[in-house]
Amino acid sequence: MPRTVITFGTFDVFHVGHLRVIERAAALGDRLVVGVSADALNLSKKGREPVFSQAERIAIVAALKPVDAVFIEESLELKRDYILEHQADVLVMGDDWAGRFDEFKDICEVVYLPRTPAISTTALIEKISGTA
Ligand code: CTP
Repeated sequence: MPRTVITFGTFDVFHVGHLRVIERAAALGDRLVVGVSADALNLSKKGREPVFSQAERIAIVAALKPVDAVFIEESLELKRDYILEHQADVLVMGDDWAGRFDEFKDICEVVYLPRTPAISTTALIEKISGTA
């Protein structure tokens, strides 16, 4: 049986930290499925509209070599349904969420990967807007 890995994120203003987490998640199994946050979810979670729309963000993530399938994550409350629907064996999250998804250990393995240091979408937006 192929081992399916699932991960979630906004992946706005795509940067190398996003690429690294996707590469490391893919290396944990045979098939990688990525849930990309809906625009509305991003607004409620981060308090701002993403720079790139969900259609643009999902197109970028879907085009990456390690990614086998993508879907829009409409709600944070639906993680368990998404894991089951995509028959994921492993849930990967950044370690900024360490411990927060342990409730899913009854249906899959839960792995928290260290974030790539010194880069984030928020920092990039601040840097670009500060020098524009
Ligand atoms: N990520 C990472 N290393 C970074 C930034 C993000 O490994 N330097 C990972 C996150 O842990 C998550 C995925 O990339 O698993 C998507 O993160 P996302 O929240 O979309 O990106 P951020 O750059 O963290 O965005 P923001 O600054 O808006 O929080």
